[in-house]
Amino acid sequence: MHVVVTYESKTGNTEKAAHLVAKGLAKAGATVSTFSINNVDYGALAKADVVIVGTWCGGLFFFGQHPGGAGKIAGELPDLWDKATFAFVSYAHNPGKAADKLGEILEAMGSVNLGVGTIHRDKLKDDAAAFVDDVLAEFASA
Ligand SMILES: Cc1cc2nc3c(=O)[nH]c(=O)nc-3n(C[C@H](O)[C@H](O)[C@H](O)COP(=O)(O)O)c2cc1C
Repeated sequence: MHVVVTYESKTGNTEKAAHLVAKGLAKAGATVSTFSINNVDYGALAKADVVIVGTWCGGLFFFGQHPGGAGKIAGELPDLWDKATFAFVSYAHNPGKAADKLGEILEAMGSVNLGVGTIHRDKLKDDAAAFVDDVLAEFASA
């Protein structure tokens, strides 16, 4: 399975989460490439069976949560041509529905979004591992 993980990160949490997700999937046998949203390899994207997109949760902490990098993601990624995607956000206190909103944005770009995850910035390792388990479970059940 070829996987591209791409992320938009302001202070590094989502970047670390993306690398942890990539590492977990590679450990499970996937071929994984990881790119900042500023530097996506479109050849790798075209070849990928699965594209995982991560960003940070923006908002007013207890309401108005949204995927912080959505504009950049929509601007930098091409149409996703029925690609399978997963979305995740890193967050500090309460991600609200930011991850679901990111999934909807990816679907509006043409993907089939198969799942979303939230990764707390103080629990990057554990939450990234849980997200990897969800991604793998989705494929095991397909
Ligand atoms: C302007 C701004 C708004 C934020 N709003 C929320 C929020 O509503 N809920 C939340 O849980 N975290 C919120 N955060 C925290 C970030 O989502 C969190 O620190 C995230 O891990 C940052 O990711 P990054 O290091 O990849 O930029 C906000 C951060 C910023 C800068």
